[in-house]
Amino acid sequence: MWWERAVVYQVYPRSFQDSDGDGLGDLPGVGRRLDYIAGLGADAVWLSPFYPSPDHDFGYDVTDFRAVDPRFGTMRDFDELLEQAHGLGFKVLMDLVPCHTSIDHPWFRERPDFYFLRDMPKPPNNWRAAFGGPAWSRDPHGRGWYLHSFFPEQPDLDWRNPEVVAAMQDVIRFWLHRGVDGFRLDALDRLMKDPELRDDPPATGPPPLPLDPDHATLEHVHSRNAPDIDRGIAGLREAAGDHLLVGEVYLPTDQLGPYLRHLDLAFCFDLYHSRFEPEALRRAIDTAVASRRLAWVLSNHDFQRLPNRVGPENVALAALLLLTLPGCAFIYQGDELGLPDGPGDEVPLDRFGRDRFRHPMPWTDDEPNGGFTSGKPWLPVARAPRGSVQAQQRDPQSLLQTYRALIALRAELTGGEIAFDDASPDGVLAYRRGDHEIVLNISDTPVPAPEGQIVLATSPVRQAHSRMLPPRTGIVVGLG
Ligand code: GLC
Repeated sequence: MWWERAVVYQVYPRSFQDSDGDGLGDLPGVGRRLDYIAGLGADAVWLSPFYPSPDHDFGYDVTDFRAVDPRFGTMRDFDELLEQAHGLGFKVLMDLVPCHTSIDHPWFRERPDFYFLRDMPKPPNNWRAAFGGPAWSRDPHGRGWYLHSFFPEQPDLDWRNPEVVAAMQDVIRFWLHRGVDGFRLDALDRLMKDPELRDDPPATGPPPLPLDPDHATLEHVHSRNAPDIDRGIAGLREAAGDHLLVGEVYLPTDQLGPYLRHLDLAFCFDLYHSRFEPEALRRAIDTAVASRRLAWVLSNHDFQRLPNRVGPENVALAALLLLTLPGCAFIYQGDELGLPDGPGDEVPLDRFGRDRFRHPMPWTDDEPNGGFTSGKPWLPVARAPRGSVQAQQRDPQSLLQTYRALIALRAELTGGEIAFDDASPDGVLAYRRGDHEIVLNISDTPVPAPEGQIVLATSPVRQAHSRMLPPRTGIVVGLG
């Protein structure tokens, strides 16, 4: 399958490239920058949502699943972008949001049976929303309480209603008919809940993956991850045929089995949130590799950017790790430049505080707004301490060039096997892929570097009497 070793580049359309000066990136803008993504060597792009949306959750609150928000362009722009992308050899993934709609979606008024509406004096249970606060709000149309796993403006769809499944299957077919190659499926662990809507018990310990503190007060045994979740996903699969389905399932690897019955891939959040030190990384990789169906990802539009999460000193190492593991890898736009978190807006736009991870791309140094827009950008263009795209393209030592070299190297790193080196010194993660040895020195002291031909190093490795790997440096050595 094409995705088995693919590199997928996540485009966050509103922050990629503006083409009409309204300060918001758009689909023709993405088209203008496809050459750049091709130059990186990526195989596919995942476009974060560009459906019509009142933006309470920046596109993840959809009012029409079969349309393009006019701010991002027209359906014709989309068709052209798809054609252009396919012409360049890219696959294109849509972002499908099956668990909820916008509260402004016509279904919410017209099809109450699609949602969880309960006309009773109190909310039916104690569930808390992922962004904090109760998961039930009063229905503005006077029909009692409705359930929302995220913001109140995002009422949950009831996937136990076959008509909901059929409606979402139609959406999938609509986009497949236009020619898309697959879907990133949003928030899948929320797709199905306990049919009796029983209370969640109090949490007994810290959550396995980071959660909002209020949300984390409960153990989500009933509000998410229903035991028969695979039935819902089977519905998505039925419509998708053999096109790629990659799930955003926010659960530890050992709970992904039922999801992977019908998905091709699920993101590996254990690795995403792992401490950046050898033992923890190795543990996360070991469990995931065994399933062979996890997509590696270290960054997206929801969490702190890489330099803030793993430390600026580890950013090139993180790239080396992400791109030398066996399987499909996702890169979030701007990671290849080492973009850190930005300041956000003076008045936060995203109520969950994620503006800082979503600043527009800094393309050039000599144009206003880094070449992102000729107007006023919706968020200030990202600060680029390591340099804009233009600057890093000119600098052979830049992080951008390291990403390119790593992606190019993947063709040689064949085989799904990975063998960790048990004898590596403290602070070092080392593994073999076929006839290559990969060593990450995640420590502040030099360590002996392996023998063999240096194929790639994240910073210059000097050959003196013996070869040493400098602190915070990664290397790929050919053993053949
Ligand atoms: C996913 C998206 C996130 C969104 C949430 C609700 O986690 O990545 O941005 O807020 O789902 O749709």
